[in-house]
Amino acid sequence: MKKTIHFSLENYIGKGLHRKCYIHPEDPFKCIKINYNIGADIETNREVKYYKHLLKRQISWECLSKYYGSVDTDLGIGHVYDLIRDDDNSISISLENYLKQSLNAHELNELTTALINLKKALVNDRIITMTIKSKNILYQRRNCGNRLVIIDNIGNSKLIKIDNYCHFLAKKSINRKWQRFIKDIERENFALVSAYLAKK
Ligand SMILES: Nc1ncnc2c1ncn2[C@@H]1O[C@H](COP(=O)(O)OP(=O)(O)O)[C@@H](O)[C@H]1O
Ligand SMILES: [Mg+2]
Repeated sequence: MKKTIHFSLENYIGKGLHRKCYIHPEDPFKCIKINYNIGADIETNREVKYYKHLLKRQISWECLSKYYGSVDTDLGIGHVYDLIRDDDNSISISLENYLKQSLNAHELNELTTALINLKKALVNDRIITMTIKSKNILYQRRNCGNRLVIIDNIGNSKLIKIDNYCHFLAKKSINRKWQRFIKDIERENFALVSAYLAKK
């Protein structure tokens, strides 16, 4: 029998529409996500299935938080992922919140590079996503170069998942989702998208 993981109050990080996220009590660099409402099961099962597919493919995990399987917890079944932290150990903030700050030229330049690298990594690892949203991307500040990491809403919702195997269709799907994402963040931060389009 698997052992049960017990959470304490200070383990709680935050929640989205379907899941609550906690720091793993035994590993500060992992988090555990737990469904908390009806409808969450469908989303989580789809996503976990896709993560298992990516584990088999041995992708680089450059743009995603790596998945480590399920655990039993005192709050129900949880799924374990890399917890994204900056080099100063604080939990990385979302791109959505980062874009709400006023950014200087240097910060904008670093973020533009991270955005270019995120697109490259999605294509290199052939990551199929649902809608890409800035609230589901964390901006990790590192000495070796900042990066953007997608933490939610990946996988393929199509019934026939040919995109998972056909490289040409995968790239088309990634490009489509990326263009929509760029349009969305243009509303959040026009300067970032202008810099991105000039530099990509
Ligand atoms: N890998 C991670 N590292 C750090 N924080 C995370 C990670 N995954 C999720 N979080 C935090 O937990 C919140 C909810 O997680 P998320 O996967 O987006 O749940 P939902 O599927 O309900 O939207 C996120 O908004 C973020 O604050
Ligand atoms: Mg989310």
